[in-house]
This record gives sequence, structure tokens and C-alpha cells, in this order.
Amino acid sequence: MSDARRALVFGGSGAIGAALLPRLRAAGWQVDALSRDTRPAQPGLRWLRGEFATLPDLPARADAIFSCGPLDLFSHWYADATIDCPRVVAFGSTSDATKRAADDPGERELAARLAASSARVLQAAAARGTRATLLRPTLVYGSGRDRNLSRIAALARGSGWFVLPSDARGLRQPVHVDDLADAALAVVDVEAAAGRDFALPGGETLPYRDMVARTLATLEPAPRLLLLPSPLFAAALFAARLAGRLQGLPPGAVARMRADLVFDATPARVAFGYAPRAFAPDASMFRQD
Ligand SMILES: NC(=O)c1ccc[n+]([C@@H]2O[C@H](COP(=O)([O-])OP(=O)(O)OC[C@H]3O[C@@H](n4cnc5c(N)ncnc54)[C@H](OP(=O)(O)O)[C@@H]3O)[C@@H](O)[C@H]2O)c1
Repeated sequence: MSDARRALVFGGSGAIGAALLPRLRAAGWQVDALSRDTRPAQPGLRWLRGEFATLPDLPARADAIFSCGPLDLFSHWYADATIDCPRVVAFGSTSDATKRAADDPGERELAARLAASSARVLQAAAARGTRATLLRPTLVYGSGRDRNLSRIAALARGSGWFVLPSDARGLRQPVHVDDLADAALAVVDVEAAAGRDFALPGGETLPYRDMVARTLATLEPAPRLLLLPSPLFAAALFAARLAGRLQGLPPGAVARMRADLVFDATPARVAFGYAPRAFAPDASMFRQD
């Protein structure tokens, strides 16, 4: 019988999950991963088809569970699960803090749901003597599939330009998916991380408009970044909304461009050596395939 450690991964096909799976396999884990789609098995990786609402048969035991998909669905499943597993690593989000006092009720509800889900996982784990850790990334990039910088890159590619208010100087810490996957792999063996949550910011803190400028500069040809005085930007936004554009723009997104959303990486660095890279993007990180 193989003595390889076994992992059960939720969200393994997502941006963070897709970075985690090869790391787990390279580290010798045998992985079972859930997906709503049919996916081909690979050495050390077996895909189970299903979703939280209609789960297939899952292994009765695992050495670790990784949650890289919707935290609320995972938390409800985990609270009732009978799986024998001593370790849980689950991704949440710093949106539980940044959207807690948002003007938009939907954003406040998201923040509350994230916080409640994190608490549910930690409580369920504590009740059964399992070591659980919550990892809360800031703005994620690197896979080309995120809904933040990749979306901005796609919009700018289409039009040849991108518009921001000139005071979009709120601080950001974009974090690369590979650093998050490394963090999940590192924390799984750290006893001192049990029962805790860690913010996982990127390795550089920079103003929102600089982050966007650096993103656009990777594209060929590089779209122009237009910085408009705030009142002019507000008028342009109003006109764009009237014209039915900006459908996917979250309600508080523009106001947040002026707000600092900054988190301390020190606890993660001390606990498990978290050392995220600075923000040095290239075009492959914003691909559209
Ligand atoms: N992206 C960000 O900027 C960001 C920032 C902070 C925190 N986070 C958090 O980090 C985690 C991972 O984010 P991500 O961007 O890597 O995710 P993602 O790319 O959106 O992927 C989501 C994953 O969840 C799975 N999934 C979705 N609905 C499911 C369901 N009903 N049942 C089972 N599986 C389901 C998907 O699997 P299939 O499609 O294969 O079924 C997919 O693998 C999430 O908790 C997210 O909230 C993300």
C-alpha cells in the first residue's frame, strides 16, 4: 500500500486550485479533486465529478482537505461532514473586512457570509479536534482568469484605453496565485497555524492607478491610461451606465479605488515563511484563453 499522503481538494480547477494541484503532486501527495466538469485523471490526481449540492462519493479519510472554491458551500459541507481528516486549509478572502461596511447591502452581505463561513470552518474543526487554517488573499492575479486585473486588461485591449479617476490612489497589494498555492502547501505542516486565519497580501503595496498602469504596460500594444479629474470621471461613468456599459462593475468598486485596502503579511511570514513576490506582471498573467 502506498504511504503517500492523500489530499481532498475542492476548487482544484480554479485559479488558486490549478496552481495548488501540481505543487501537491510534485510534493508526493495523492490528490482527489472535485469538479462540476469531467476532467482527465493524471498521475497522482483523480477527479471526482460533482458539486456541493450533489456530491459524489468522497474518500472516507484524507490527510488534508484544501478548499479553493466557494467558502460558504465548503463550510456548510464541512460542518456536517464525517470524513476522517486531521487537517483543513481553506481559502477565504480579505473582502470579509474590506466590504464589511460597504454602502451596498449585497457587498455587506458577502462580507458577513465570508466571516460566518470562516468561523463555521474553524468551529467545526475545533469541535472534532481537527487543525484548520483560513487563508485570506487580497486581490488575486496571475492565472489570467481573475475578475480584477484580467478583466481590466481585457477591457483595455478591446478599446485601446482605460479610464480612471486621477485620485484612484488607494493602496493595493495584488497577490500572485503561485504565492497563494505555495502558502497552502507550506501551512499544511505547521502546527502553530491551527485554529487561525492569515491575511495573504502580495509582496508590494502600491496605489490602485499604478497597479493598473503596470498591468496595461504589459499589453502589446499598450493601451492608454486616461486619468480624469474626479467630477469628469463621475460624468463619464454616468454616461457609460446610461449606455448600458459597465454591467459587471461591482457597486462599491469606484469608491474603493480611493481607499487603502492593506493587510499585514507578518503573521503569515512568522508562522510559515510566507514571502510573496512584488508586483511585476507580464502579459501571460492576463491572457484571455
Ligand atoms: N480571485 C480573487 O481575486 C480572490 C481574492 C480573494 C479570495 N479569493 C478566494 O479564493 C478562493 C479561490 O478563488 P479562485 O479565484 O481561485 O476561484 P475560481 O477561479 O473562481 O474557481 C472556483 C472553483 O470553485 C469550484 N466551484 C464553484 N462552484 C462550485 C460548487 N457549487 N461546487 C463545487 N465546486 C465549485 C470550481 O470548480 P468547477 O468549475 O471545476 O466545478 C472552481 O474550481 C475562493 O474562496 C475565493 O473567494 C479569490
